[in-house]
Amino acid sequence: MLFENIHHNKIIVPPIKCQGIKTDLVKWIKSKINLNYNTWYEPFCGTCVVGFNIKPKKAVFSDNNPHLINFYQAIKNKTITYSIVRDFLEDEGNKLLQGNGEYYYEVRNRFNNLRDPLDFLFLNRACFNGLIRFNSKGGFNTPFCKKPNRFAKSYITKITNQVKAISEIILDNDYDFIYQDFVDTIKLATENDLIYCDPPYIDRHADYFTSWNIKHERTLYDSLKDSNAKFILSTWHSNRFRTNEAIENIWSEFKIDTREHFYFVGGKEGNRNSMSEALIMNL
Ligand SMILES: C[S@@+](CC[C@H](N)C(=O)[O-])C[C@H]1O[C@@H](n2cnc3c(N)ncnc32)[C@H](O)[C@@H]1O
Repeated sequence: MLFENIHHNKIIVPPIKCQGIKTDLVKWIKSKINLNYNTWYEPFCGTCVVGFNIKPKKAVFSDNNPHLINFYQAIKNKTITYSIVRDFLEDEGNKLLQGNGEYYYEVRNRFNNLRDPLDFLFLNRACFNGLIRFNSKGGFNTPFCKKPNRFAKSYITKITNQVKAISEIILDNDYDFIYQDFVDTIKLATENDLIYCDPPYIDRHADYFTSWNIKHERTLYDSLKDSNAKFILSTWHSNRFRTNEAIENIWSEFKIDTREHFYFVGGKEGNRNSMSEALIMNL
């Protein structure tokens, strides 16, 4: 089965944000997929932006962040729809507007007690820089973005449309969302499947639900090596200060493609940095 939408230019942007989101790399990743496969496996799915743009007919998305999985699971079983999201954000946005951000912290406390996926969406879209960050007890602890009018009408419409677009993709296809460690997901894949791995970048991001180190990277190597499936792995190659040593030390037997990627530090034009991204593949 080949995905339908490969030459389509419009990128579908999910309603949830996370660090390391691959929106800018989707087209490049798509361009590498030149085979037929049965099931798409994405063991570090994050926002699922890659899979949602590839649109396989059958997919397994998993992550060890339960809140991302709960959110998409709720869309799949229709406890979250775009109209529910619109009404919820209008109500909660109005309450936020009454004060100076105190309500954000009320929702944060509520979320940390009840773990409701709608509250997760609210926090994700109202928190500082869209960072998903947790304390050692698993409590969401990112501060408010300091804009009481965060949920202006146009912003709610944008988020609602994003929920609508991804709901259609989820409900039109055979997708599972599973909260589990990547090792267990990779074990599920068989010969004619394709696994896309996007782990936290080694030696770089420290804000994930769990940290990622050389031990994890080696376990990932062992899992992929044991699997009969094809895989594509995203990682960083180098920046102007250093090179990712894991590429040579762990991944060198596979095909590697690199691409320069520009990103802005703190959103400022002047702080433009470049980093070379890598795709490691056995395709
Ligand atoms: C770079 S992000 C993925 C971003 C995703 N490709 C996107 O575009 O939104 C890495 C993800 O790996 C997840 N993760 C970290 N350790 C994991 C583990 N041991 N098993 C499964 N997922 C893990 C994090 O929760 C995070 O969502």
